[in-house]
Amino acid sequence: MDQTSIINQNLDYDRPIKLADGVFWVGFNDAKSGLQCNPYLIVDGSEAILIDGGSRPDFSTIMRKVLQAGVAPGQITHLVYQHYDPDLCGSIPNLEQIIDRPDLKLISKKENNPFIRHYSVRSKILCIDDLQHELVMQSGRTLRFFPTPYAHSAGSFITHDVTSGILFTSDLFGSVGTASKWNLFAEIDNRCGTCTASWPNPFEDCAETGKPCTWSGLQMFHSQIMPSNASLQYAMAVIKPIGASMFAPQHGSILYRQEDMQGALERILKMKNIGIDGILARVEPLTGK
Ligand SMILES: [Fe+2]
Ligand SMILES: [Fe+2]
Repeated sequence: MDQTSIINQNLDYDRPIKLADGVFWVGFNDAKSGLQCNPYLIVDGSEAILIDGGSRPDFSTIMRKVLQAGVAPGQITHLVYQHYDPDLCGSIPNLEQIIDRPDLKLISKKENNPFIRHYSVRSKILCIDDLQHELVMQSGRTLRFFPTPYAHSAGSFITHDVTSGILFTSDLFGSVGTASKWNLFAEIDNRCGTCTASWPNPFEDCAETGKPCTWSGLQMFHSQIMPSNASLQYAMAVIKPIGASMFAPQHGSILYRQEDMQGALERILKMKNIGIDGILARVEPLTGK
């Protein structure tokens, strides 16, 4: 699918949205929250993989989307968890029950797995390091995994679907904003590309465009969720050479235009005062005041 046909398709958020052949967004428009969560489904023949499957309260809605995408629960062979937060892992017991496969595998990273176990997991939990950082599906379709340590968890990683080029970036490239103004595909005004104004509140519209500021939502999310400038810089250095066709984050909107992806990457690289670095910049050294 080219970019135009992706965004010109009927964007009914009550249905799964196709991002590429065999790739679906299976989330929903979370009107009550300022933090949109995005699970993704990869379908390859009779096999399916769910990425960052979602929270316990969201389980029934997400499973309905999986069914609407034409996938029976028993087709899901792997659940990929790019870190261990409850917004992506909370529904593991529900998924295991409905998938009901003794050979179901959970894929994460060894730093995450001691924590993921506490979601009452009964399936085998694999580490991407032991898989040589890739998973080859039955047809040969390959998912490649890239560690992005401390962005934001020690074992955080991202997933590249080589066939579509889509990069599932987990919390990286996530953003916050007003739920009623959320779009699955980021609508970034041409004027925003070169805008150097200080970023307004992401919950208020920009005076220039009359729309929420994507960069502001990106800034607020990363400065609060990511632990340090260094972890974010490292993650961007990992992402840049991958040459993704799309950034599909677990929060906020999908970046699908190369200029927007490049713009977001450059802005994240320039972010300062991320996490503990922001706190250290504001307090007296060592006194904690
Ligand atoms: Fe997270
Ligand atoms: Fe998250």
